[in-house]
Amino acid sequence: MSKLWGGRFTKPTNQLVEEYTASILFDKELAEEDVQGSLAHVAMLGKCGIIPEEDAATIANGLRSVLTRIRAGELAFHVGDEDIHMNIEKALIAEVGPVGGKLHTGRSRNDQVATDMHLYLRKRTVELTGLLLKLQEALLGQAEANLDTILPGYTHLQRAQPILLAHHLLAYVSMLERDISRFKDSYKRVNVLPLGAGALAGTTFPIDRHFVASELGFDGVYENSLDAVSDRDFIVEFLANASLVMAHLSRLSEELVLWSSTEFGFIELDDAFCTGSSIMPQKKNPDVPELVRGKTGRVYGNLVGLLTVLKSLPLAYNKDMQEDKEGMFDTVRTLEGALQLFAPMIDTMKVRKERMRQAVNQDFSNATDIADYLVTKGLPFRQAHEVIGRLVLYGIQHDKFLLDLTLEEFRSFSELFDKDIYTVLEPEHVVNARNVYGGTARVQVEAALTRAKKTASVTAEWIAAHEG
Ligand code: ARG
Repeated sequence: MSKLWGGRFTKPTNQLVEEYTASILFDKELAEEDVQGSLAHVAMLGKCGIIPEEDAATIANGLRSVLTRIRAGELAFHVGDEDIHMNIEKALIAEVGPVGGKLHTGRSRNDQVATDMHLYLRKRTVELTGLLLKLQEALLGQAEANLDTILPGYTHLQRAQPILLAHHLLAYVSMLERDISRFKDSYKRVNVLPLGAGALAGTTFPIDRHFVASELGFDGVYENSLDAVSDRDFIVEFLANASLVMAHLSRLSEELVLWSSTEFGFIELDDAFCTGSSIMPQKKNPDVPELVRGKTGRVYGNLVGLLTVLKSLPLAYNKDMQEDKEGMFDTVRTLEGALQLFAPMIDTMKVRKERMRQAVNQDFSNATDIADYLVTKGLPFRQAHEVIGRLVLYGIQHDKFLLDLTLEEFRSFSELFDKDIYTVLEPEHVVNARNVYGGTARVQVEAALTRAKKTASVTAEWIAAHEG
């Protein structure tokens, strides 16, 4: 069969041009959405009397059987038919005859492709939110199991102040909560219908865009036909949101890699989530977090790639915009892959509480607390800081931690020290002393955990209301 747009041409397309401009090899991923959009469009054409109702019914049946064949892998796509839209239209015409040619009435591939991508990203946004929630749940489970686990908290990767492991994990829950809220927010802009914009200016047919929108479950229609076909902001937003998800996962990955090293020994990832070495029999490598860390780059690349495609692009559709797809598909796959593995990996991770505790006992991460102790005895904080600095130096030089020092040694630095200092320096005391909203004291962490669980159940409700 010749090209759907062949009438104006006197020569066949150069073979390389045909291959270069075709998108079917990747946009076949939009087949479901393309048929979904066409079904709503043709229902509207029939309802508005733009084509006879019986033709609309024939076309709808034809589209359904084309989709069945696609799902069964029975429909061969052709590069010569350029993209998913024309491949499906060709298959439809082959199926139902020339009446199939009425489907494209009042429509352009420009508003069609935009509609397909809105449908695609709408679905993926909900699915990915579900996967983010699963990871949050895994983190919440580990947090609950580690309300008594104390480990050193770090700044500059130097031991800073002891914290509860639950508190550390809840930080990631909060980060993922922002990711979820970004997906939920961008959903509003994804859930708008471009169809009806035609090529760029609207259409001469008396179409009903709001009917199509409601058929497809969109909350509204694009206000301006040029904007409808030119807009790819919703994909940029998705890629930006995805980039932050990957930023968060890569930070967690880095900590898992560090913590599972012999040097830290804070956690052990389950065997099912690690791989070995072909030469060193002792190795157990944290490949999953390493690869997630590595794949963060391609997601950032996809974001910058699309932003660059859109820069200075005149209205309305330009072929450049076909470049919006591969990075989007790749990002969806990358996020899905990472999140699907992360939840069970966190779930099955073994926490080596005693190693964490040992680390806390053998550091100066309680130094802030004795500075604070002197402050409560009346010394200005700056002076207290100076005194404790010298005390720590003394400890380092004499190979003693703060709890190893005698009261006499303490007193040689300040008369204000008393024996209650030994209670103040205990890791539990140090942790529980930070009893402020959002702090690491156990009561605060328990309250935070309760709040996070409630937020997670709100997310679960949102997902249930938006999926399918
Ligand atoms: N394959 C095209 C894309 O993905 C569909 C829209 C083509 N429109 C056009 N006027 N060439 O962007």
